[in-house]
Amino acid sequence: MRLRAVFIPILGMAAATETCSAAPLQDALHAYGIQAWHIGRLWNFTLGLCVLVFSAVVAAFLFALWRAPRSDAQTPPDLSSLERPERRIHRTVAWAAGLATLGLLALLAADVFTSRALGRLPLQDAVNIELIGHQWWWEARYLDPDANRQFTTANELHIPVGRPVIVTLRSDDVIHTLWVPNLHGKRDMIPGRTATMQFRADQPGTYRGQCAEFCGLEHAMMALLVEAEPNAQYEAWAERQRQPAPLPASDAARRGRDLFLSHSCARCHTVNGTGATAAMGPDLTHLAGRKTIAAGMLPNDAGHLASWIRDPQTLKPGVYMPVNRMRPDELQDLLAYLETLK
Ligand code: CUA
Repeated sequence: MRLRAVFIPILGMAAATETCSAAPLQDALHAYGIQAWHIGRLWNFTLGLCVLVFSAVVAAFLFALWRAPRSDAQTPPDLSSLERPERRIHRTVAWAAGLATLGLLALLAADVFTSRALGRLPLQDAVNIELIGHQWWWEARYLDPDANRQFTTANELHIPVGRPVIVTLRSDDVIHTLWVPNLHGKRDMIPGRTATMQFRADQPGTYRGQCAEFCGLEHAMMALLVEAEPNAQYEAWAERQRQPAPLPASDAARRGRDLFLSHSCARCHTVNGTGATAAMGPDLTHLAGRKTIAAGMLPNDAGHLASWIRDPQTLKPGVYMPVNRMRPDELQDLLAYLETLK
């Protein structure tokens, strides 16, 4: 019974890697891109081999228990076998050591083959993104040889399905780690260095990524959404991101914009097309098009946005955004403006 209790969850994990269900979120056992598939295969192989070795060790242990000399209060144990050299045991140990070495070599070979497979991703027509880790949010710059076509966004990547993505990783402060398990493994973002990661989403969907290196108080609240969509949809999204923020149409939105520019907001955030060009916090030019705020922590709706603006310190203690004291009517105007940033 105990053995079953150990094995069934392990075998269940192995089986889970084989079946793919809908609605991916953040799951290293469900590959939605070729790179994650290679890593998943390596994981399955490693798990299978380790289950075999573990089973063999447990079987040998049980066999030894069963064969061990017995005794009770009346009869002392028969330890004569300890005196006799047992050539059979030496042979068995030699075989086991040989098999264990082969197993380790097989793991090494599988690792090397996986690394080579990961490096063979064709990179023609790739989307180039520079991703910068900040405490505790992600800045994404979509690079383009034509500087006019570059744009910056935050905390949500859009990528085209079936096209490779080259992400150049940097950090602004401490070590962060990018990990979008449905698409690829982890890669560190180290201050002063750049690293790259190449992957491709092979199915449309929303994949959640997470900072995977402890980076301070709000490390757990540093999520990244990756929206993989058909190429035409991606291109349309990218084209919208290249546009400056639309001019506010209503009086409330206009008052909100003036408030944004005169209040502390503009000291940290950029809204293209206005005088706000600071880069301390996320670029808000197209904030209203994002699903979440505060790096994946809260849904992007008026209620959460209002709470966030008034008192981010209660929601995400330690975050660098200050508390903003403003009258309720001012906050309404500001929300009316932020809603126009599509
Ligand atoms: Cu950034 Cu953990």
